[in-house]
Amino acid sequence: MSPSVFVTRMLPEPAMERLQVADVDLEVWPEPDPPSYETLLHRARGRHGLLTLLTDRIDANLLDAVGPQLQVISQMAVGVDNIDLQACTERGIPVGHTPGVLSDAVADLTIGLMIATARRFFEAAADLKAGRWRTWSPMGWVGPDLHGSTVGIIGLGRIGQAVARRLQGFNVRILYHNRHQHPAADALGATWVTLDELLATSDFVSLHCPYTPDTHHLINADALATMKPTAILINTARGGVVDQDALLKALREGSILAAGLDVFTPEPLPSTHPLLTLPNVVALPHIGSASISTRINMALMAVDNLLAGLAGQPLPHCANPEVYQPPTP
Ligand code: GLV
Repeated sequence: MSPSVFVTRMLPEPAMERLQVADVDLEVWPEPDPPSYETLLHRARGRHGLLTLLTDRIDANLLDAVGPQLQVISQMAVGVDNIDLQACTERGIPVGHTPGVLSDAVADLTIGLMIATARRFFEAAADLKAGRWRTWSPMGWVGPDLHGSTVGIIGLGRIGQAVARRLQGFNVRILYHNRHQHPAADALGATWVTLDELLATSDFVSLHCPYTPDTHHLINADALATMKPTAILINTARGGVVDQDALLKALREGSILAAGLDVFTPEPLPSTHPLLTLPNVVALPHIGSASISTRINMALMAVDNLLAGLAGQPLPHCANPEVYQPPTP
C-alpha cells in the first residue's frame, strides 16, 4: 500500500510533478487559503506524511489526532516555529525544512528593504502619484545613507551571512550579535559585539535569528530605547522577534527613525493595523523568499525531505536531528 500524504497547499509545478510520479497516495489542499486548524486536523488523520507551510499550526494535539503511523512532516520553509518540534521529536517524527536555498533571496530583499526604508521609496512614490511632487527641493524626501553606515546583524546564520556578504559592496561597518562568536565572521569583516552595543551603535539593525522562546520579543521597548533616534529596524525574520506594540510606539514617538518589515504578528497583518498608517514604515507581506527559482527550489527540497522520510531514510534537511539519537537512559 502506498503511503498516504497530505500537502497543505498547491506547490510550484516541478514539485507537484515530482510528487505525482512518486509512489504515494496523494491529497493536496486545493484552496489558495490554508486549511483551518480543524480542517487540517481532519484531513491529516491517518496520514504517513504531511507537507506543510508556515501557515499550518502543528501541535501535540494535531500529532495525536493524525496517529502513530505518521512518519514525517516536511515543511516548505526554513523557519519551523509553527511546529512543536519537541512534540514531534518525542513521537519520533522527523521534521524537514529548507535551509540554504532561500538565503540569497532573503538577503536580497533585506538589502532592498534597507534602501527602500532609508531612502523613503514608498512615501516618495505615493507623493508622486498623489500629485504632491511640486518641485525638486534641496531637502525633499531625504533620508540616511546605507553606504558608510554601521549595520548590526542579529543572528549571523546563513541568511545573516548572505546579508553581510552583500553589505561589503556598501562600505559599511558590520557588527553582529550571536550567542557565540561565529567562525565565518572574520572573513565577512563582521565584528561581534554585545546586543546592547549593537543596538546602541547601529544605524541599521537587521534581524536574522530564528523565532524561539529565547528570541520572543528580543526587540522590546528597552531594546528600542537603546537604539539611536536615527536608527532603522529591518525585520525579515519572524514577527514575534519584535514586540510590535512597542515598535509602533517607538516609531510614532520618533525614538527610532523607521522600520522595514516583511514579517508581523499576526500574519496576515490586518490592513487596518496602525503600523500601516505610518509614513516611516515600509511593510511587505512576508515575501523574503518569494523569487520564482527560490520558491521552486524550496518546494523541491520539501518533497525530497518528505519522500526520504516515507522511505525510512534520514531527511536530507532535518530541523530536529535529535530525533535520530537514541533516547538517553
Ligand atoms: C520563510 O519565512 C521561511 O521560514 O522559509
